Amino acid sequence: MTTGTAITGHGVWHPDTVLNNDELCVAFNEYARRYNEANPDKEPIKPSSSEFIVKASGIKHRYVQDKTGLLDPERMCPNIPDRPETELSIQAEYSVNAAKVALAKAGKTAEDVDLVVLGASNLQRMYPAISIEVQEALGARGWALDMSLGCSAATGATIIASQAIQSGTATCALVVVPELTTGHMNWRDRDSHFIFGDASVAMVVEKADRAKPGSWEILSTRMLSKWNPTSIRNNLGYLDRCDPTTKDTDSKLFHQQGRRVFKDVVPLASKFIKEHLESHGLAPAQIGRYWLHQANEKLNSLVAEYVLGREATRAESPIILDEYGNTASAGSLIAFSLHSDDLAAGTYGVMCSFGAGYSLGSLMLQRT
Ligand code: COA
Repeated sequence: MTTGTAITGHGVWHPDTVLNNDELCVAFNEYARRYNEANPDKEPIKPSSSEFIVKASGIKHRYVQDKTGLLDPERMCPNIPDRPETELSIQAEYSVNAAKVALAKAGKTAEDVDLVVLGASNLQRMYPAISIEVQEALGARGWALDMSLGCSAATGATIIASQAIQSGTATCALVVVPELTTGHMNWRDRDSHFIFGDASVAMVVEKADRAKPGSWEILSTRMLSKWNPTSIRNNLGYLDRCDPTTKDTDSKLFHQQGRRVFKDVVPLASKFIKEHLESHGLAPAQIGRYWLHQANEKLNSLVAEYVLGREATRAESPIILDEYGNTASAGSLIAFSLHSDDLAAGTYGVMCSFGAGYSLGSLMLQRT
């Protein structure tokens, strides 16, 4: 079984600024102290701690676009100035940065590209599509589209790219995933202020018979969605100004029920992956690597353990969230891009995302 398409290049980019847990907690705790002092009649905000963050999530630090604003106890939000409409927008810039690495690895130039699919959990505007701006900035041909699917936007974009090649509507597709996630976080929320980081990743997808050795053939793809209105959500949208009573509430930022996500996603994702393996007649131990969505280290360990029937090693299921934090839909693609070059020809690998919706996406890959 094969889609006849392959990932022929991939690359990761992240901003230079590192934000570690200690400095994040100092700022949060100062914000909490000021809030509690100013609101003696309200429920006090408890302090956050680096120990908790590492123990609960596995995240040690993350890369961020800006930390001056989010470490300012009076502001608690990154400072990211709006750009003039004639300048490259920031998510397009994130995309272009990763795209250049992926194209170089694929041995392609932008003129070879005739489709850009941009997937991200947050899109900075409604229209014109950011992917079209990326297409123009790179000098690519053909057509482009943006897609939104929470933390499965990147696997979803790769699947769409593969399908476009299969159907003949494109010959060389570029997937770009500009996850500037720090803009959607509630830095005043103790339960989630440590979760996300900024990064982008890109992939080149072509027909497998044109792929050079060392590429990753996409044998098959799967997607699944299951509605859950409250577990992971962000209500920000174009209708916000129409209801001034909710316009600036916390519901317009990322919020989740972390424990609920754990309970729902571990069985859902492990079953989803197992069924994908079964459709190929492959046993879990025949997979050389599992590049899983990177939201929480314990969650990944449990999903891998449910699939394998034993604990997975770091080599079998690499973790990048200790360094990058949760990079939303980019996570499993970043894990793939950083941890796939060492595998031998013929090795099977599974890339799988799970996120808001719920939404899941997986790709069964084999090294050429
Ligand atoms: N610092 C210190 N303590 C904290 C804290 C913080 N920042 N945040 C919460 N706590 C405390 C809680 O108050 C609670 O204390 P209690 O037991 O005395 O009530 C305790 O730590 C446990 O809180 P809980 O929220 O149950 O923690 P958790 O172990 O579930 O970890 C998450 C929280 C968010 C890290 C975890 O649930 C998670 O990552 N879930 C998966 C989320 C996911 O994958 N989302 C996808 C997003 S794309």
